[in-house]
Amino acid sequence: MTFAEEPLLELEHLKTQFFTEDGVVKAVDDVSFKLHRGEVLGLVGESGCGKTITSLSILKLVPTPPGKIVGGKVMFNGEDLLELSEERMRQIRGNEISMIFQDPMTSLNPVFTVKNQILENIKLHQDVSEDEALEKGIELMQMVGIPEARRRINDYPHLFSGGMRQRVMIAMALSCNPQMLIADEPTTALDVTIQAQVLDLIKDLQEDLNMAVLYITHNLGVIAEIADNVAVMYAGNIVEYTDVNTIYDKPDHPYTRALLSSIPRMDKKISRLGVIRGTVPNLITPPSGCRFHPRCPYATEKCSTQVPPYVEIEPSHFSFCHYAATL
Ligand SMILES: Nc1ncnc2c1ncn2[C@@H]1O[C@H](COP(=O)(O)OP(=O)(O)OP(=O)(O)O)[C@@H](O)[C@H]1O
Ligand SMILES: [Mg+2]
Repeated sequence: MTFAEEPLLELEHLKTQFFTEDGVVKAVDDVSFKLHRGEVLGLVGESGCGKTITSLSILKLVPTPPGKIVGGKVMFNGEDLLELSEERMRQIRGNEISMIFQDPMTSLNPVFTVKNQILENIKLHQDVSEDEALEKGIELMQMVGIPEARRRINDYPHLFSGGMRQRVMIAMALSCNPQMLIADEPTTALDVTIQAQVLDLIKDLQEDLNMAVLYITHNLGVIAEIADNVAVMYAGNIVEYTDVNTIYDKPDHPYTRALLSSIPRMDKKISRLGVIRGTVPNLITPPSGCRFHPRCPYATEKCSTQVPPYVEIEPSHFSFCHYAATL
C-alpha cells in the first residue's frame, strides 16, 4: 500500500540507548520508517528487539536515566518531537498521539472507578462540563463494545474481565480523538478468542476514525490481520520493510523468513515449524557487521565484518542484507 500525501510520522535514524553499569545498551539503533494517516504499520520482532523502546522514544517517555535518545528525528506533522518542550509534549501525548499498553492493569488505577479515570482523561484534554464528560465517557464505552456502559462506568477496574479492561483502555486512548494510536502488544495478555475480538475492534475503530496506527507485536499472524505495511525489527534495527502481502509472499531478509517459518500457516504445507537457531543478541555488545549474522544460515565472512546496506529491492520493499534479492 502506498500513500501519496506526506507521512504523519517519520522516524529518521532514531537512536536510543541505556547507560547501565554493564555498558551501553544500543536498544534502538538507526531506526527509520514512515506512517501515513489512515495507515496501520505493524512493527514486529522477537522479545527484546527494541519495539517498546521505539514507541516510548516517539512519545519521549523513555525512562531517563538510564535511557536517552542520542540521535535522529521524530517528525510528527512536520515538527521534530525531540525538539519540543515537555509542556508541548504533554499536549501531544493524549491529544494527538495515544498509546495502549500490553497490560491494562498496570495502566488502570485499581482504587478509582472507570468513570473517574475516563472522565479525568476527557477533562484533561477537552474543555467540557462534568455532565458532557460523562456522556462522552459512556459513548466511548459503548463504541468499544462494553455492554450496559451507563451502569458499568461506575465499576472499579477489577470488576471487568481482561478483555473488557482492554476495551476500557482503548476507550481512554480514543477519548481525545487522536490522529495516531500506538498499540503495544494490546492483546497479548488476553485469551485467543478475546484477542481476536479486540483486534477486530481496533481495526474497525481505525477505519471509522481514519487513524494512523503503529501496531506492535511479536506475532506475524496478528500483523496479517491488521497491518497495511510491516517493519520487521531485529536487535535494534529494522531489517525489512514492505507491504503486508509482500512480507508473506516474498519475504527477503533471512530473519523475516525465519520468523515466518516459525508460525503455522493454513495456505502452506509445513510438516514441522521452523526454529530460529541461537538467541537474541545482547545489545551492549551486538554482533559486528550484520547483527543477525550469527543466526543466519546464509552468512558469509562479509556479513560478520560489514554493516549491510539498506537495499530497495523493488519499490517500497527494503531489505537490510548484503544478499538482498539474491537469496
Ligand atoms: N530500563 C532499561 N535499562 C536497560 N536496558 C533496557 C531498559 N529498558 C529496555 N532495555 C533494553 O532495551 C532493549 C529493547 O527493549 P524493548 O523493551 O524495546 O524490547 P521489545 O522488543 O519491546 O520486547 P518485548 O517483545 O519483550 O516487549 C532490550 O535489550 C532491553 O533489555
Ligand atoms: Mg515490548
